[in-house]
Amino acid sequence: MDTQTIINAAYLLAAVLFITGLKGLTKPKTAVRGNKIGSTGMLVAVVVTLFDQQILSYGMILVGLVVGGAIGAVLAIKIQMTGMPQMVAIFNGFGGIASALVAGAALLEVSGGPGEVPGAQFLIASGISGLIGSLTFTGSFIAFGKLQGIVTTDSVLLPGRHVLNVLLGIVAIGAIIMLVTDPTAFAVPYLAICLLAFVLGVLLTIPIGGADMPVVISLLNSYSGLAAAATGFVLSNNGLIIAGSLVGAAGIILTQIMCKAMNRSLLNVLIGGFGGEAGGAGSSADDVYGGKVTTSSPEEIAMVLEDAQRVVFVPGYGMAVAQAQHGVKQLANVLEKQGTDVLYAIHPVAGRMPGHMNVLLAEADVPYDQLIDMEEINPMFAETDVAIVIGANDVVNPVAKTDPKSPIAGMPILDVDDARTVVVIKRSLSPGFAGIPNPLFAADNTLMLFADAKAGIQDMVTALKETIDA
Ligand code: TAP
Repeated sequence: MDTQTIINAAYLLAAVLFITGLKGLTKPKTAVRGNKIGSTGMLVAVVVTLFDQQILSYGMILVGLVVGGAIGAVLAIKIQMTGMPQMVAIFNGFGGIASALVAGAALLEVSGGPGEVPGAQFLIASGISGLIGSLTFTGSFIAFGKLQGIVTTDSVLLPGRHVLNVLLGIVAIGAIIMLVTDPTAFAVPYLAICLLAFVLGVLLTIPIGGADMPVVISLLNSYSGLAAAATGFVLSNNGLIIAGSLVGAAGIILTQIMCKAMNRSLLNVLIGGFGGEAGGAGSSADDVYGGKVTTSSPEEIAMVLEDAQRVVFVPGYGMAVAQAQHGVKQLANVLEKQGTDVLYAIHPVAGRMPGHMNVLLAEADVPYDQLIDMEEINPMFAETDVAIVIGANDVVNPVAKTDPKSPIAGMPILDVDDARTVVVIKRSLSPGFAGIPNPLFAADNTLMLFADAKAGIQDMVTALKETIDA
């Protein structure tokens, strides 16, 4: 067997590990194993690549591994769960610029070579890598800035931006054509491609509101994969082509899942201007709530919980803000001790990032088999005694089903209103991300506990223990 066959067999093994790892990531229970399998695949691919090619001295590679590994490890250990989207944004950005730099370096190497003319595949792939990689770099850093509060989280809607973006895109494609037609003078077109893409990355990301950033980050993740795949064609490296394509596909699938769960088109997200403002049509808060809201206390709720056979927790963004997940688990423990069946309803876009609720509840040691997806839990609400909504709002807003003019019209929601009693813990009647009132808070079977989620849940734990002991 020659070396090339062994290398390709190793890349094939890596690809199988990537795909198996991705499959594992589709369920919370198998996600950690999936992550490890995928990482092993990446290790195989990296080791084979290092043995394969005389890219740099092993000393330089070791320095890179130690410095990069140390920075990655420190970041991963120190980052708060709520800061995860920002970290992913930065990783995407670096992935994109790495692809663009490698493609540029490959062009430099060929131009200094012994006079052979590079092929069309090499040149087109270099241009695409420069374009997508550079765009991903600046786009990701704007996304990072918005989430970190360094860049305004508002939609910045420049006049004529669509025309400008199209023009910049056309000029960048023109530069790729120049690169392909005259590879001897590659420097000017390649630099032009990268500079235009830097500007495009900023212009495409700046109009998007801060709360839509997780969708954008997922899309940029997909772009970074596509840039890596293009660089794989530049280097004729099968491992990079496969890994890049998988990242590209996984990123776009996740983007689609998020858009679908918010009932928004990707175009609507990318055009910007949604989120945080009062919803267009629909009733005012006074119409919805006026004199109809029932305020409750931890003691009253404890009495309802004492008799409950089944309780379903419905976490949302407010649970993440208040870091109430540990208190929720404590309350679940008290309920389970008295024989109550406890479940957790997971909406795909509850919170502000994919898997937000799963991650927080896993952190509080909630068993995976109690986390139930929306489709599965919805029919179970009719047989639920108490649904406890913790800082969730849009994902439980029945208006999505009843008002076709609402900004969340058609968004699938958790049917908590089917439960016998609904307890909602939030600080006020303020709206959520979509900026609209929620008739659930004024429903006959809803009890409102106005409190910070963490404090409110703690008070409920104390009150329930006292009620049980009394
Ligand atoms: P939201 O509709 O945003 O509502 C969150 C609620 O939490 C608010 O009404 C707020 O009310 C309450 N809250 C905030 N801090 C709190 C605290 N310390 N204690 C108690 N409550 C607190 O949340 P959701 O139901 O999770 O829906 C998520 C929304 O984000 C959806 O519209 C979704 O489309 C959007 N979105 C999601 C994602 C992903 S990937 N998850 C990405 C982009 C956008 P008070 O101020 O009255 O307390």
